[in-house]
Amino acid sequence: MRKFRRGGAVLTALALSFSLNLNALAAVEDTGYADVDAGSWYAQAVEYVRDNGLMSGTSDTEFSPDGVMSRGMLAAVLYRMAGSPPVTEPPSFRDVPLHGWYSEGVAWAAQSGLVSGYGDDRFGPDDPVTREQLAAILWRSAGSPAADAGQDFADEADLSPYAVPAVDWARSSGVLSGWADNRFDPRAGVTRAEAAVILRAFQTMDGAGTPEEPGEEPDVLVAYFSATGNTESVAGCIAELTGGDLFEITPAQPYTDEDLDWTDEDSRVVFEYENPEERDVELAAYTPDNWADYDVVYIGYPIWWYDAAWPVDGFVEANDFTGKTVIPFCTSSSSGLGESGARLAELAGTGTWQAGQRFRSGADREDVQAWLESLDLNGSRK
Ligand SMILES: Cc1cc2nc3c(=O)[nH]c(=O)nc-3n(C[C@H](O)[C@H](O)[C@H](O)COP(=O)(O)O)c2cc1C
Repeated sequence: MRKFRRGGAVLTALALSFSLNLNALAAVEDTGYADVDAGSWYAQAVEYVRDNGLMSGTSDTEFSPDGVMSRGMLAAVLYRMAGSPPVTEPPSFRDVPLHGWYSEGVAWAAQSGLVSGYGDDRFGPDDPVTREQLAAILWRSAGSPAADAGQDFADEADLSPYAVPAVDWARSSGVLSGWADNRFDPRAGVTRAEAAVILRAFQTMDGAGTPEEPGEEPDVLVAYFSATGNTESVAGCIAELTGGDLFEITPAQPYTDEDLDWTDEDSRVVFEYENPEERDVELAAYTPDNWADYDVVYIGYPIWWYDAAWPVDGFVEANDFTGKTVIPFCTSSSSGLGESGARLAELAGTGTWQAGQRFRSGADREDVQAWLESLDLNGSRK
């Protein structure tokens, strides 16, 4: 259940108003919005925020998933989450009209201490809410709980001081984490689709700050081997966009740059390539924790000599994929996925394997997002 702890009665009302709507967590057939594809990574979240009265469309037929989530919109959402209690004082910001559609929300959120203005009597209602602002507002809404600092983000120094504990909490609670390259990107604006996903994660957190298992929603694992980081970057994007867990397939003896030099006939990869019996690379670990819980498993690898890099073979052979949907993906300089997915499927012998996808070595989040949106995965967490 909800965890607004500030504001006593107001927040109790919120808890009563917004119990989980499990129907909204089932696979989406038709979102009702022309611009929200039922297979998109945010479709279930959009349904959730709509069905729970948190966010509505920008018109009867559109949600505008790529549109900006403005600070005014967020205040209005928070206000709805609290059950739209009576507001006794008008908004005190000179750029917030007395009777705008978000005015009561801004007034209530400011009076509840959830939001603040820019310090010059302005609230900036049309400004995009930034990632660190959203983390801070939800953290305050949760009662400003303490959280482990965890590992620093690469751009930790860019965080505003007020947002530091909030961002620690957002990451540890699973509500909002960093990008695949370990940046939090604190000043980036949040889109409406992202806001829907984050708000749903927030609303479905359990009391300990860990997202609840909604029961009908499949669990996603992104397992990958990456020698030079390209596949790791794509894997991180998939995990972030699907809400999946990451598992790195790590050789017990990692590959050095010299090991990977295919132009050197004495290098480790060339030796292993030329001697197939040497490709049975020992792994540091074979089976992820809670393996049985995963319904959808993405498996990523670089292409080596037109095929899946062989360290991934041991992972595939060691695990039972029965009942799981398996989606291979690879990165390469130019080669396609080729027969690599089919070979791994045969090696595994279990699981329902999909065709998979090849990404260029420098693939970015948008490439991954476009692919995920094109997938028709019944029941995947997208
Ligand atoms: C030993 C070796 C063999 C490779 N063979 C191919 C290949 O056949 N086709 C191709 O397009 N790229 C090939 N590459 C390039 C990698 O597939 C590409 O750089 C990939 O993105 C690396 O992923 P990673 O950074 O996750 O290890 C090869 C790289 C190495 C090290």
